[in-house]
Amino acid sequence: MSLPLAADTQGRLSTDRFGRSMRGFEEVGSTNERATQWAAAGAPEGATVLTEYQTTGRGRHGRDWTADKGRNLLFSVVLRPTLPPDRFGLLTVAAGVAVAEAIEDFVSPHSAALKWPNDVLLEGRKACGILLESSLAPPNTDAVVVLGVGLNVNQTDFPDALADTATSLRLASGRPVPRPPLLARLLRALERRYDAVQHNGAGSVRGAFRERLAALGSSLSLRLPGTDETLSGTVQGITETGALRLRTADGVEKTVHAGEVTTRR
Ligand code: BTN
Repeated sequence: MSLPLAADTQGRLSTDRFGRSMRGFEEVGSTNERATQWAAAGAPEGATVLTEYQTTGRGRHGRDWTADKGRNLLFSVVLRPTLPPDRFGLLTVAAGVAVAEAIEDFVSPHSAALKWPNDVLLEGRKACGILLESSLAPPNTDAVVVLGVGLNVNQTDFPDALADTATSLRLASGRPVPRPPLLARLLRALERRYDAVQHNGAGSVRGAFRERLAALGSSLSLRLPGTDETLSGTVQGITETGALRLRTADGVEKTVHAGEVTTRR
C-alpha cells in the first residue's frame, strides 16, 4: 500500500474494522471489482480498496461512474453482513445516512439530503453515488456485500451530461476539502451506521434517513428495474427494511424495493 491518500487516511482512522486493512492503487478498473476479488480471497470485514482513478467505474443500473483523477474519493468496503438478506435494503439506507452525516462536517450542518435509495445531494445536486453489490445471492447466509462509494470532493468541472445535475463538496462549500480526514470520517460513520443496522439499531438509522429524505411528502415517478413500467405517487417514507413507501393517486400504498426516481414534482 504505497498510495499517499491511503497512508494519510490510515494515520487518522478511529474505526474498529473499516479501513484497517486497506489497499490503495493509483488506477484500477473498479474498486468494487477489486474488493469483490479480495473478499473471495478472504479479506476481513471492513477491508477497503481505494483508488485515485477508475477506468471502468460502475454505477447503478449498469451505468458508468466517471470521476477526475486525484480529486475525489473512490473506494469500496467489504461487508460480511449477518442480518437476513431480506433486510439488506437497510445496508443501503445506512450507507446513505453515513455519507450524508460525514460530508456535512466538511460542508455545513444539515446541508446533505438523500434521494432514495442512496444518492447524496448537496444543493439539490448529486455529490455522491453508492453501489452495493452482493456476490452471493440470498438466501446464502455467508453473503459478501461490497459497498462502493464515489464521492465528488474537489472536482469542479463535469462532463456535459452531468453538468446540470452533479456537484462536489468543493463547489458546495466554496473551498477545497482535504481528502484524508474526510475519508477517515466517512469510514467511521459507515462503520457506526452499519453496526447499528446489524445490531438492533435500525430504527435510529431509518429515522436519520427519513429526516434527510429529499422527496418526503412530494410526488415522484419511479422506473421499475428491468421493465418500462413507472409508478407514481407521494413519498410516505421507508419501510422496516428500507423499501420506499409510495401512496398512489387512488390512495393505495405501494412498497418499492428497487427503482430509479425519474421525475419529482
Ligand atoms: C451510482 O450510480 O450512483 C453509484 C455509483 C457508485 C460509484 C462507486 S466509485 C467506487 C465504487 N467502484 C465502482 O466501480 N463503483 C463504486
